[in-house]
Amino acid sequence: MTRLRVGVLISGRGSNLQALIEATADPAYPAEIVTVISNRAEAPGLARAAAAGISHHVIAESDRAAFAAAADRVLRSAGVELVALAGFMRILDTGFVEAWADRMINIHPSLLPAFPGLHPQRQALAAGVKFSGCTVHFVRPVMDTGPIIAQAVVPVEDGDDEDRLADRILAAEHRVYPLAVRLYAEGRLRIVGNRVAVAGAMAPDIAVMNPELLASADG
Ligand code: GRF
Repeated sequence: MTRLRVGVLISGRGSNLQALIEATADPAYPAEIVTVISNRAEAPGLARAAAAGISHHVIAESDRAAFAAAADRVLRSAGVELVALAGFMRILDTGFVEAWADRMINIHPSLLPAFPGLHPQRQALAAGVKFSGCTVHFVRPVMDTGPIIAQAVVPVEDGDDEDRLADRILAAEHRVYPLAVRLYAEGRLRIVGNRVAVAGAMAPDIAVMNPELLASADG
């Protein structure tokens, strides 16, 4: 099996990178991570790439176009077919986003289009919503927009603070990102306008995204 070649861009902790590393450890998983790029030399996620034996690069250029040019070079020389942003905290050059359109995805810790931008968990608490979650979407030049591939829902509980809610959402992120990359690698995603059509049986995928929903439907 030829595996899809994925490049992951990080800025920090890299727990979503770790979830992807763990998914790709299964030889049956249809994607592999061939390179990791961080815009911060001190990102703890770099050690995760190193521990997994994945080539990793720090590109710290402060100029947006210079960063994009350097990142593009690394991605192309690694033969990357899909770029996955995983806690990547820089705004990307529009030309770069357009060059990788439909081949670059992001994960965001809210049910987009609700709560884009910074501190989405704080925004969810302030809005008083009963559910939040996470979203994997194709990247478009406007931040946190783009066709949605997968979402998972988590409850907002009484007494939640930002950290508790973030942890609950993060656990869902770690299921949903590997799922979304798998769906992409299996060629099951088709972008129709602003919607992503997912080919094939959806029920098992929904179970991965939202186990609580199916559990409550059964009970
Ligand atoms: C995650 O919540 C992700 O959704 C957001 O930034 C956070 C990154 O966490 N974009 P990690 O670096 O993957 O642990």
